[in-house]
Amino acid sequence: MIHDILWHGADYNPEQWLDRPDILQKDIELMQKAGISVVSLGIFAWATLEPHEGEYCLDWMQEVIDRLYAAGIRVNLATPSGARPAWLAQKYPEVRRVNPDRVRQLFGDRQNHCYTSPIYREKVRAVNQQLARRFGRHPAVILWHISNEYGGECHCELCQEAFRDWLRERYGSLEAVNRAWSTKFWGHDYTDFSQIESPAPHGEHAMNGLLLDWKRFVSHQTIDFMKWERDCIREIVPQAKVCVNMMYRFDMIDYFDMAREIDLATWDTYPTWHKPTETLEETALDNAMMHDLIYSVKGKPFWMMESTPSVTNWQPVSKVKKPGMNLFSALQAVAHGSDGVLYFQWRQSRGAFEKFHGAVVAHDGRDDNRVFLETAEVGKALKLLSRVAGTRKQKQAAIVFDWANKWAMEGAQGPRNIGLGYWEEIMRHYAALARIGIGVDFVSQDGDLSGYKLVIAPMLYMLREDFALKLRDFTASGGTLVVTYWSGVAGESDLCYLGDTPHGLTDVLGLRRCEIDGMFDGETRRCVAVAPSMPAHALGGTLCEVAALEGAAPLMVYDEDFFAGSPAVAVNPYGKGRAYTLATRFDEAFYRPFYKTVCEDILTPAWPGSLPDGVLATRRGAFIFLQNTLAASVDLGALALMPYGTAVFEERDGALERIL
Ligand code: GLA
Ligand code: ZN
Repeated sequence: MIHDILWHGADYNPEQWLDRPDILQKDIELMQKAGISVVSLGIFAWATLEPHEGEYCLDWMQEVIDRLYAAGIRVNLATPSGARPAWLAQKYPEVRRVNPDRVRQLFGDRQNHCYTSPIYREKVRAVNQQLARRFGRHPAVILWHISNEYGGECHCELCQEAFRDWLRERYGSLEAVNRAWSTKFWGHDYTDFSQIESPAPHGEHAMNGLLLDWKRFVSHQTIDFMKWERDCIREIVPQAKVCVNMMYRFDMIDYFDMAREIDLATWDTYPTWHKPTETLEETALDNAMMHDLIYSVKGKPFWMMESTPSVTNWQPVSKVKKPGMNLFSALQAVAHGSDGVLYFQWRQSRGAFEKFHGAVVAHDGRDDNRVFLETAEVGKALKLLSRVAGTRKQKQAAIVFDWANKWAMEGAQGPRNIGLGYWEEIMRHYAALARIGIGVDFVSQDGDLSGYKLVIAPMLYMLREDFALKLRDFTASGGTLVVTYWSGVAGESDLCYLGDTPHGLTDVLGLRRCEIDGMFDGETRRCVAVAPSMPAHALGGTLCEVAALEGAAPLMVYDEDFFAGSPAVAVNPYGKGRAYTLATRFDEAFYRPFYKTVCEDILTPAWPGSLPDGVLATRRGAFIFLQNTLAASVDLGALALMPYGTAVFEERDGALERIL
């Protein structure tokens, strides 16, 4: 069901309008006009569903669901745990989070409950099961929206105990914890588990192993809570399909781990389109990278669960989406593997925090303003492209993105404490490949590399032994591997590898690391090509590694400083494949020609011909999407693309037919 069509929908919060039956009535009519096929219902409705402890009021929701169903609209029913009622926070203080400084929060805000509290779990179970019993078998309900944007951490006593239990389970003994965290340094050895505390600004905040394991625990505990919610539903409706809405570049949950526990990955996307400080193509690529990451966490189609049809109200400056942008953003999501285009929210709130956030229906309530009309256009396009739903993407290139690596790398004090820019590094590789029209997936160190022709490991500081083996096998059996500086430095517990590094890969790469020089922002080192296949010049920055060649051929070398002449780019044949090393972070211009060379004989771009800058080609199954990121029309000979226009082609028997 969830991959049968391209769904069009919105967050629907009718509890705000229960005193306005006329508005609720009108909603249905307008939803049909806009081509809405699904709504996410009741995400923040707990206080209306259970106004007093144990007193449930579900009739209003029954009416809403029945009416939606009668109108042909399906429901993605939310568990309301994201925002708890005031009575609950007041009566049971333990459900409120404790901050790192050990101060317990007051009632307020949302998405800030303790993940460990047995009382919170019990109360969530009770309300979730009320919903499941009453609506779980309603034919309108096709999906469950578990909570909302899980995130954050709690340092209460219950969480401390749960952390210690998690450590016992992971390490087996306190000695093993001490060893993994290198506690001998500064003499911080623990002699009893009860001495272990989560990181705190006024306590332990410099022990790398503790910081890393705390992050792992927070991710684990959040997922554990999500599983609890899911299972409350499944106890009553065993076949219930569940999703969670994930977030942009979110640091605190390993979404690969979370995705294993759900049926559908989704995310909420709010790029600032039309930012004066970057091109729209750059914004689009940044957004596309997240789409591809969310596709990758399950390796199958996802939903864009939230987006705005017009403006947000929380960015430093909220720009309206210019004419055509709503459709552009919808089709971009589809091109990258989404089977759903949904908005926050259906009808603009009258008051409170999000009253100026864009919505499909604005305060004027009209169906003839630009936003409404453009949303209805999206509805039509999604219907037209319905057969794209469910199609998978071809495996071409994979970038290794690993949450634990990020946590370890950013927790360590090293050659550049003013910021390593892990995402920025990844973006350079991603953007270059996307501009060429190569499909990119993301894999974690638990991932499977089979089927890919190209694997890129940017800043894989923490390289697990088992993943080093996977990279070796991948290359030996004919794959092309690209490894950058600051890779293969430390193992699973952030203990540095002894001996030559990049650990486990020196023979694959045909070199070993000797020194690492940190660069200030804006500080660069000139590099020059020594092979004709490379760009003649490039600038290295961020970190400059100095390596000793042990069989690899240099393709570019540093051209200044004491390490002039040492390799900045090198390639080494290994088994049936080859492995490239990039010893520094280059200026952006380097990456497109570099990847053109790397991909030449191994990967086919989405679009057969050449495309002008600003036009992006993306392939999904047999469908090819061409998108114009420019504010001007683009003439491609046989076809013209309007400003922000999209053309969709279907490949049939080797020929391309335009279907949109
Ligand atoms: C998030 C939340 C929504 C809403 C939007 C506003 O994605 O999930 O409830 O607050 O942001 O942009
Ligand atoms: Zn807690």
